[in-house]
Amino acid sequence: MIQLHDKYFKPFVSATQIDRALTLLAHNMAKDLGDEIPVIVGVLNGAFMVVSDFVKKYPKPCEVTFVKLASYQGMQSTNNVAQLIGLNQDLTGRTVIVLEDIIDTGNTLVHIHEVFKNESVKALKIATLFFKPDAYKQDFKLHYVGIEIPNKFIVGFGLDYNGLGRNLPEVYQIKETEHMTNLVLFGPPGAGKGTQANFLKEKYNLVHISTGDVFRYNIKNETALGTLAKSFIDKGALVPDQVTIDMLNAEVEKNADANGFIFDGFPRTNAQAESLDKLMVSKNSQINAMIALEVEDEILVERLLERGKTSGRADDADESIIRNRVKEYYDKTAILKDYYANQNKYFGVNGVGSIEDITVRLSAVIDAL
Ligand code: IMP
Ligand code: MG
Repeated sequence: MIQLHDKYFKPFVSATQIDRALTLLAHNMAKDLGDEIPVIVGVLNGAFMVVSDFVKKYPKPCEVTFVKLASYQGMQSTNNVAQLIGLNQDLTGRTVIVLEDIIDTGNTLVHIHEVFKNESVKALKIATLFFKPDAYKQDFKLHYVGIEIPNKFIVGFGLDYNGLGRNLPEVYQIKETEHMTNLVLFGPPGAGKGTQANFLKEKYNLVHISTGDVFRYNIKNETALGTLAKSFIDKGALVPDQVTIDMLNAEVEKNADANGFIFDGFPRTNAQAESLDKLMVSKNSQINAMIALEVEDEILVERLLERGKTSGRADDADESIIRNRVKEYYDKTAILKDYYANQNKYFGVNGVGSIEDITVRLSAVIDAL
């Protein structure tokens, strides 16, 4: 997964596949042209890599030149006549192969045909590495097509998104994020968040981001952010929100092809909730829901004491410590309930019952989003 400006792209066509397509294209063309020496005309900027690799594979002599298209706003009523910048060669009687990186709507081809109409060429043939049949709106025959692709935006191997991506040796396809489902999972200690998160991530193909796990991972692997976080922890200070957000950002970017995320253990404050919102907006996405597992205190105490018998966690063994943890949860998080409720994103779910029943209740909320 790569990021260019604000968009994400996933690997789509490998360098090897491109190489094979260009080899085939070159050999088919050479076979058709026999001993004729073609003039290969690359259309800049996008076609520079295609042309460079293609002519190396062309097994016979050929000439190479480049042009750039400029839409020329004519003075006459026949406006929008295209202009080729750089065509300074007499092409009379020659076989010209216009070599494109990609043919999309085919509008560029209209201009190209218009210009070459006046050049008295012997033959004009169109070749392209990529072709989007579903986007193509013209009738011009395409003589040589390397790879047909769906009507989705691609970058790499000469193709750019706002100037970036041309230098990539392989091709990437836009990653659409509109359908992401991002949840904040909430619940007091003992509510069964971990258990339910495991079911939900399987069912909806979500990535579970537990802040605790992310911290432990970064510290253990001594990442730059982990080392930074540890320096605060070692001093007994709270890790600044920005450091946590940067770690979450890294997790989100690592999993940019996920259907969405389950955030667990974060946010804990209004400021963190705002930072998380900003993070998701920067990914063209959003938090869709805060789902809180609701369990009565008495049941939580019972569950945690039960867990304490086997977990060995000291804070699961003592009833008054447990009651304090539960109380602290409600003291600290009540405000977050309001934060999400104000955006109509708060969903309380009854967390008492069998694991399956609770999964069903959670799924009902998610399916309705
Ligand atoms: P046309 O729509 O066939 O005229 O293509 C016009 C130009 O749009 C191409 O030469 C490319 O520069 C650009 N283009 C079309 N589709 C893509 C794409 O998926 N990625 C990057 N550039 C594209
Ligand atoms: Mg182009």
